[in-house]
Amino acid sequence: MKKLTLFTLISTALLALTPSQKSQALKIANTASKAYLDYLEAEILKTLKNYSMEDALMFCKTKAYPLSMKFALQMSQKFHIKIKIKRISFKNRNNSNYPNITDQPILKKLSKSQKPIVKEYGKMVVVYEPIKISNLCLLCHGTNINPQLHKIINKLYPNDKAIGYKLGDFRGAVVITIEKKGLK
Ligand code: HEC
Repeated sequence: MKKLTLFTLISTALLALTPSQKSQALKIANTASKAYLDYLEAEILKTLKNYSMEDALMFCKTKAYPLSMKFALQMSQKFHIKIKIKRISFKNRNNSNYPNITDQPILKKLSKSQKPIVKEYGKMVVVYEPIKISNLCLLCHGTNINPQLHKIINKLYPNDKAIGYKLGDFRGAVVITIEKKGLK
């Protein structure tokens, strides 16, 4: 009995993140999320400037997901730790970006606090970074979408829920999963 208690104590201590691990996870997540989102925004702007709204839409459709993998790899190398990146939203465009059962209650909390949330799931540390709507986003997620563009969006995404957003609205989260064993 005594042994069991000691074992429980030790394993709990091993599982809990130290303050230093937590702040390192936050720093990695913040850097990764910002790098990914800034890059997306810059590429959308560039496409709008040099090509068209439809091309910018196709950029988001075809590149947002592969870029999340590219940035995860880049950040894994930068921080010498294995990380994954995804985007989730309750009012989503792509069906696969709807939050899973584990993510749902945290995304709800995040929509209120709008401050990064750190969670531990076994060997993984997961950080949820909020995404906000800026002016650029309104073009494809706002209340007054160009009718031509809206038609294409509806054709590509018949279940689209990612419209009707206003400036400053909570859009969803970048979820950064970090392998705990690499955190110091
Ligand atoms: C040119 C059109 C366009 C603009 C501008 C745009 N988006 Fe999107 N957005 C899309 C498309 C298309 C998807 C679906 C991507 C996919 O299929 O993976 C998407 C998906 C998303 C997702 C993933 C969740 C979901 O709904 O599937 C988030 C989060 C998101 N956009 C946030 C933003 C933010 C924040 C901005 C402004 C910085 C923005 N978007 C600007 C077209 C756009």
